[in-house]
Amino acid sequence: MFKELRDINSRPLPFEFYTASDLWTDEHIAKQMLKYHLNPDIDAASRNREFIADSSEWMINRFELNDCKKVADFGCGPGLYTTAFAQAGAEVTGIDFSANSLGYAREQADSSGLIINYIKTNYLELQTDKRFDLITMIMCDFCALSPAQRMMLIQKFHTLLKSGGSILLDVFSLQAFNDLEEKCVFEPNLMDGFWSADNYYGFMRRFKYETEKVILEKYDIIEETKTRTIYNWLQYFRPEDLQAEFKFCGFSKMELLGSVAGNKYQSKSNEFAVILRK
Ligand SMILES: C[S@@+](CC[C@H](N)C(=O)[O-])C[C@H]1O[C@@H](n2cnc3c(N)ncnc32)[C@H](O)[C@@H]1O
Repeated sequence: MFKELRDINSRPLPFEFYTASDLWTDEHIAKQMLKYHLNPDIDAASRNREFIADSSEWMINRFELNDCKKVADFGCGPGLYTTAFAQAGAEVTGIDFSANSLGYAREQADSSGLIINYIKTNYLELQTDKRFDLITMIMCDFCALSPAQRMMLIQKFHTLLKSGGSILLDVFSLQAFNDLEEKCVFEPNLMDGFWSADNYYGFMRRFKYETEKVILEKYDIIEETKTRTIYNWLQYFRPEDLQAEFKFCGFSKMELLGSVAGNKYQSKSNEFAVILRK
């Protein structure tokens, strides 16, 4: 018991383990995630419906998404943005590794008569000959990647982007990092059964990595017959650090925004967005 509790409370190296697929593709958890995505009133998994409508409209206008434009949405989830881009006339590819979310996205496209190319894969491993005018990655998913994974993804973006094309993504800021504290929670059926349909005991241990500006929320889920550990990593950024990563991979231009709805950048905000060009 002491050893197990010591393991639960031990701090791994930043980004030592990558368990994103356990978080998004486990059959039970994926259903909980889809409920969050589709809840119109909350910012969890996807943002609230009003923000999605406003930000989609802004993106369609800003990037002139008409039938001449090709868009790729990395981590598209249930297709809340891909649907809007396709309705505007763009040729849209959505990439996600959640079969459950893509199932919903495909149903929505079929019932609205939209043709959207959904690809079920780990976006770090995406292979395609297509080239895009706009690549989006929305709801701070870029922050879940390690420095090495980010480098790999930015190089992929560079290859996939047409000349003159843009990347649009959002990230968490240092302001948000500074507001968080380390903590430990223990609860039977932690988060009201989010992690399993069966009874379980759940620990959530939040670790802060001051030097790296990384937060880990480590979940240990203990069921009668199995135990799982899920690592939810988030990198927090200063605009200049994000710019340096993209510049290193050949993106020389960065425009700073408050959000993917095109608001003005505010240094005190918990998130910000960027448009990047080669
Ligand atoms: C925070 S949600 C955002 C969904 C969508 N962008 C939105 O704003 O509505 C992140 C999405 O990325 C997907 N995802 C996370 N890591 C992934 C990976 N390595 N490969 C493919 N999809 C991934 C998840 O399945 C999830 O649908």
